[in-house]
Amino acid sequence: MNQIYNPKYIQNLFDEMAPSYQIMNIITSFGLSEIWRIKTLKKINLKGPKTILDLFSGMGESLKYLEKFSNEKNSIFALDFSPKMIKNLQQKSHLIQNVNVTILEENFFFNKIKSNSFNTIVSCFGLKTLSEKQLNQLTSETNRLLKKNGEFIFTEISIPQNKIFAFFFKFYINTIVPFIGKYCLKNNTSYKMLGIYVNEFQNAKKVYNIFKNKNFEVEYISFFFGCVTGVKGYKI
Ligand SMILES: C[S@@+](CC[C@H](N)C(=O)[O-])C[C@H]1O[C@@H](n2cnc3c(N)ncnc32)[C@H](O)[C@@H]1O
Repeated sequence: MNQIYNPKYIQNLFDEMAPSYQIMNIITSFGLSEIWRIKTLKKINLKGPKTILDLFSGMGESLKYLEKFSNEKNSIFALDFSPKMIKNLQQKSHLIQNVNVTILEENFFFNKIKSNSFNTIVSCFGLKTLSEKQLNQLTSETNRLLKKNGEFIFTEISIPQNKIFAFFFKFYINTIVPFIGKYCLKNNTSYKMLGIYVNEFQNAKKVYNIFKNKNFEVEYISFFFGCVTGVKGYKI
């Protein structure tokens, strides 16, 4: 397996980024990452009673919106495998009071969750570090974990289709973001990886095609000139 998709490598990468992840996210996206999360989560009906999986939850960046757009009958499971991201999540999960939050610290591809557990699975910015094999496994696990008619939405930072916009976007993520990481946050290597993963990922078309060929009704999603793409659907 290509080293960049090795689970241990990814775990270490996010452990290293955890102290600066939130602020770096906001600075490097000019605050747009929050808007993109809101746009993602607003695309799906979160009104309960529902059991929702926040997949690749990080430090729970989506939780406050999942709480806001849900109602008190919902139960949310936040799953991530980076101990440091999870530690931050634990420290702030008490701020979420109107929904029940359960934290699952495990590798999604070896999860111990029972089949048909969720009405909804959401994930913001968790696709880019998945290999093609894992994207296929994501489909089969989504199928296994969702109840019938259960919905899902996954979105990720992507390379825009417009060539001129793509040129500036790539320059930004390959050069400016690592520069900010290095000089402002004293993190030499981790923020270089964003560009590497996004270049490999390109956009969610591959994910869309994998889901389309399985037991799902799916829709391709694109925001902000294709800087964020994703897939939304439900289990037939
Ligand atoms: C870019 S962060 C996204 C965090 C958050 N969802 C957000 O909106 O910012 C991706 C997260 O996925 C987690 N992750 C990656 N692969 C995973 C796996 N196989 N199992 C569990 N968590 C994983 C990483 O630890 C990281 O916290």
